[in-house]
Parts: sequence; C-alpha cells; structure tokens
Amino acid sequence: NKDKFELLNKKNEEALLGGGEARIAAQHKKGKLTARERIHFLLDEGTFQEIDKFVMHRAKDFGLDKEHYLGDGVVTGYGEINGRLVYVYSQDFTIFGGSLSETHAEKICKIMDMAMKNGAPVIGLNDSGGARIQEGVVSLGGYADIFYRNTLASGVVPQISAIMGPCAGGAVYSPAITDFILMVENTSYMFVTGPNVVKTVTAENVTAEELGGASTHSTKSGVTHFACANELECIQNIKKLLSYMPQNCEDTAPVYAYDLKDDESRKVLDTIIPDNPNHPYDIRDVVDGICDEGSFLEVHKNYADNIVVGFARLAGRSIGIVGNQPQSLAGVLDNHASMKAARFVRTCDSFNVPLLVLVDVPGFLPGTDQEWNGIITNGAKLLYAFSEATVPRITVITRKAYGGAYDVMNSKHIGADLNFAWPTAEIAVMGPKGAAEIIFKREIAEAEDPASKLQEKIDDYTSKFANPYRAAHRGFIDEVIIPSETREKLIRGFKMLENKVDKLPRKKHGNIPL
Ligand code: COA
Repeated sequence: NKDKFELLNKKNEEALLGGGEARIAAQHKKGKLTARERIHFLLDEGTFQEIDKFVMHRAKDFGLDKEHYLGDGVVTGYGEINGRLVYVYSQDFTIFGGSLSETHAEKICKIMDMAMKNGAPVIGLNDSGGARIQEGVVSLGGYADIFYRNTLASGVVPQISAIMGPCAGGAVYSPAITDFILMVENTSYMFVTGPNVVKTVTAENVTAEELGGASTHSTKSGVTHFACANELECIQNIKKLLSYMPQNCEDTAPVYAYDLKDDESRKVLDTIIPDNPNHPYDIRDVVDGICDEGSFLEVHKNYADNIVVGFARLAGRSIGIVGNQPQSLAGVLDNHASMKAARFVRTCDSFNVPLLVLVDVPGFLPGTDQEWNGIITNGAKLLYAFSEATVPRITVITRKAYGGAYDVMNSKHIGADLNFAWPTAEIAVMGPKGAAEIIFKREIAEAEDPASKLQEKIDDYTSKFANPYRAAHRGFIDEVIIPSETREKLIRGFKMLENKVDKLPRKKHGNIPL
C-alpha cells in the first residue's frame, strides 16, 4: 500500500503546483497572489477543505487532449472565516489563464449547490481569461450554469465576488448578480468587451484600466462596491463584510459582545449641525457619533457620494445605514444615489440586517440630465425598496426632509417602525425661500419693497414649517430628540424591534421598477 499512498502524495503535490513554477513566478511578477495563496489568507488557518482537486477537463480539440492539469484552473472547497462556514472558489490563472471549461464550471456549481443546501456564503475569487476558447459552447454553457445558480442563490446565501485579475465577456455576469463586488486597483479589470473591440466599434482609444479597472468601476459605473489598494486589503474587506452578514436568509448576523453603559449619550452629536441651515456637514460624523467606535464599513464609498451607505454596529449588533450626505450636492437624491441606496436597502432586507436611515435631503435633483436618465424610475426604486423592506427600520431626520424625498427616505407612511427628528429638522414641501416665492408670488411682486416682503414671507414659512413639530403633532414623527440622545434611543429602539414580524401580501414576486 505504500506505493498507493505515495501516488496520492505525488498527485497532491502536482495539484498544488497548478500550471507550474514558471507560471506561478509570472503571476507573482504581476503583483498577484496565486489561487491557493489567496485562499490561505482568506480562511482561518487550517480550515480549508478542498474538493475536486483531481478534476481534469475532458476536451480533445486543439491539442487539449495532450495538456491536462489537476484541478482544471479553479481551486474549490469550504472552510471557515472567524469560525463561520464559507464556500470558496478561486480561479487559477496559471492553468489555461484560469479560463472556464465545462469541468471548471462544474466544480464551481458543485460548491454553490452545497452552499445552498447548507446555508452558507459563497466567495468567488475571480482571475480568468474568460471562456476556455478551445471548448466553445460547452464553456458558455458552463457560465450559464453558474449564472443560473447565482440567481437562485440571490437572497438565500450571501454571495461575494472578488475580482483579482481579468474578468471579461460573459464572465462579468456572475459577479454582477452577486451581492458584493470587490476589485483590486491596477491588477484587475472587468468589461463586457475589451479595448480592442471597443476601438473597432466606437473608435475610442482606451486602456483596460480606464475601461474597466477598479477606480473606473468604483466611481463611474458603480459596478464594484469596493476598490482595494491590493489583494490583501481586498481579502480583509471580504472578511469584514461577512462579519455584518448572517450565514443565510433564515439567520441573523453575529452579535458582538457589548456592555451597555448607564450613559450612552454622545455629546459630539449636539454640535454637528451648523447654525446656518445651508452649510454642509459630513453625515459620516453623525454615523461615527451614533455607532460603536470604528465599526462603520462604508459600501460604494466613491460612487454617488451624495448618499452614504454601509454597515455598522450598534451595541454589538449589525445594522445597515443609509444617509443623505449634505456635503455632496447638498445631499440631493439623483439617479445614481437612488439606485445605490435602493440596492443596499434590498441587500440588508434580504439578509435580515436592520436599517437606520439618516435624513437630510433637500429633494430630488432637477434637470434634463436627471429626467432623461429616468429619475422617475430610479427614485421609485428607492421608494419601492424601503416600502417592501420588512426588517426593523428606524429613521432620524437631522435637518431637511423636503418634498417627495421626505416620503421616500423611510418615512412612517411607507412602513418605517420608529421615526425620530432632531430639533433642527425641517419637514416641509420645500425650503422656505422656494415656498415663499411660489405661494406669495403676486403679493411679493406687488409690494412696495419686494425684497423685505419676501423675507417676511420666508420668516413666516420658516416659523410655521421649518421645524419637526407639525409632523410630530400628527404622529409622523414618534419623538423629537436631542442629538446626543440618539445612540441610546436607537439601541433601545432596535432592541424593541428585535422580534419584529412583518409580512408582505402573498404574491409571486413584486415588480420593482428596474
Ligand atoms: N481560453 C484558453 N486559454 C486561455 C484563455 C482562454 N480564454 N485566456 C488565456 N488563456 C491562456 C493563454 O493561452 C496562456 O497560456 P500559456 O500559459 O500556455 O501560454 C495563459 O492562459 C495566459 O494567458 P496570456 O495571454 O499569456 O496572459 P496575459 O496576462 O498576457 O493576458 C488575457 C490575459 C486574459 C488578457 C488574455 O489571455 C486574453 O485576452 N484572453 C482571451 C480573453 C477572451 O477573449 N476570452 C474569451 C471570451 S469570454
């Protein structure tokens, strides 16, 4: 039997070498880790259990019958991150450029099926030259098998895609369906068609990095949620992200130990809102003031920065935060901000992460650009996403909540559970100046001194509407609170809502305006 054991050892060693030492060296030279090194850094030490290590392709054309590698360009299996089960696949660029063959796809599908049955996240580390060209349609079929599973798994188990090399053509659509995409600066790119095809079709000269690098997709397209400086930062972000998420849709996120203090007030919150209501401030200061220290993980940080979204912890419990950002475009809702926030709200709702919404919004951004690009449909996405969310939902209006945007931003009317306002809140159809100019137009025009008449009307409107009390009289606001009390109110509020049960009317599925 010694010989048989020896044979297994040899095969295992061969599999670990992937496409061979020269190709591993080439991978390192590009500043990239190998598929196995990535798994090593991702999972808790010693927990990785590999599956299908000896799988080989079955193709015969174009000389492939003479070229075989154990594993066929993807390392798959399961292991733990912070003691929690995850399934992982990691494409090996040293074998046929990590290209996807029929068997490579079967390996990925196998662990996805296991993840679905056993209710645990799937992490895909992508580094691939696309469909295995020598295999033709068989390889395309393999992609579709994966896309189909990505779709079925959506909302069942968290799916995270890290792009750590090329990801082009059809390959992009698996990450696109998953919950989060992370990219590495300078060594990864994603596009449907590459620079050469672009040049032929549109005569544009563009590099791969410009067309689909991490900074492009984190700022211009919003395709990626995180642009990471290097692979290790990318892997750290995956682990961090998972710490806020449950294992599956039937579960809740892990709770971190936290000793509640007698006094959870945060004085710093009392001085964030500027005296002048038109001056900006950073909503992230409010987030930091409310949440457990250092717990905020911003998602989509560089995209549509007029809205801020991300995960944080409140007394050790995971929450998702959506906040208008007054220091960018005064915090207006536009097409990109609406889509960004809608997607985040749905991600949180899918995985039972309660929502905290911080409101300081002057309305929707006017203009042809916005209207022609569908602000009606896109704004509706956010409205719809909040309305259908059944997780605990709490709103804090810090300052402006004007017009339709008041309704959209998790108002009581669309199902929010608790709505607080700071004394600085202004809940009205529009800002006092705009309102006075419209409703007193004639009176102001006919006045002896139109400017002072306008000011008089602005002051009148301000004292009547630019406050939270009209809404509080109606019960649209549950309580007006001093900012420093916010953290404590939220801890108590989310605790009260811990066992919330809310059901949507029976339906096949809703029809969110896409
Ligand atoms: N199918 C089969 N083999 C592939 C492949 C694919 N789609 N993509 C890359 N490879 C192989 C290459 O033949 C090469 O093999 P070798 O190590 O035996 O020489 C190896 O992977 C590395 O590729 P290489 O071109 O040397 O690497 P690179 O870093 O210079 O370029 C790409 C990477 C992805 C830009 C380039 O390989 C490429 O354009 N691939 C084709 C992409 C594509 O059109 N895919 C099909 C559509 S989805």
